[in-house]
Amino acid sequence: MDQASIDRAYARLSRHYDLLFERVFDGGRRRIFRALPDRPAARVLEVGVGTGLSLPLYPKTTRVVGIDYSGDMLRCASERIHLDRLPNVSLLRMDATNLVFPDGTFDAVIAAYVISATPHPERVIAEMWRVCRSGGRILFLNHFLSENTLLARVERGINRWTKPWGFRTDLELAGLLQQTGLRPDRIERVNLFGMWRLVVCTKRKAGSLTPATGSPPGT
Ligand SMILES: C[S@@+](CC[C@H](N)C(=O)[O-])C[C@H]1O[C@@H](n2cnc3c(N)ncnc32)[C@H](O)[C@@H]1O
Repeated sequence: MDQASIDRAYARLSRHYDLLFERVFDGGRRRIFRALPDRPAARVLEVGVGTGLSLPLYPKTTRVVGIDYSGDMLRCASERIHLDRLPNVSLLRMDATNLVFPDGTFDAVIAAYVISATPHPERVIAEMWRVCRSGGRILFLNHFLSENTLLARVERGINRWTKPWGFRTDLELAGLLQQTGLRPDRIERVNLFGMWRLVVCTKRKAGSLTPATGSPPGT
């Protein structure tokens, strides 16, 4: 998957995205909010905000910045902000592998169903880590390859059909954690049959996230 083909896929999907993916993935989105710091007026970055399905779920005291690569998905999110009157949310078109924010800008950084919809998940995670403040939360919610051999074979098999729709089904969580050096506080199984996972991490020390060739910076 390259970014241009992902962009084309979400340009096609944007108008039908809510119909296809709102209800089925809603449980996972709601679980994110239980893992967020409840300090009022926390600054949150939502990476790959898409059509903004999670935006109405944020407390109105939370200042939310939503970024996405797809202008078409952002247009839908912008309509939602207008219709739902969400003055606490702002949107920016941006590549999650190259965020413009200074280090430690946000109290929490969230990516819902994005990690397997981007060609460089490890770079997205490194950037999420960088812009999160020390002591802040990094959360990503995603489908990962099953540990069940039979199911994993099916997921690998359907990958070629899901990729043109902008996401892959063969991403391995263990490999990604090793590649990034990220050490989660906990991993919760969510959505249908627990096949999606919410990965909850706390950034305990400042510094950048480095691949696990050396030791990770105190997660
Ligand atoms: C499956 S959608 C998830 C949307 C939303 N988070 C949700 O919960 O429904 C994946 C989103 O990630 C975005 N995306 C993919 N690669 C990206 C990148 N490099 N930078 C920013 N957004 C990206 C896509 O444009 C798309 O809107």
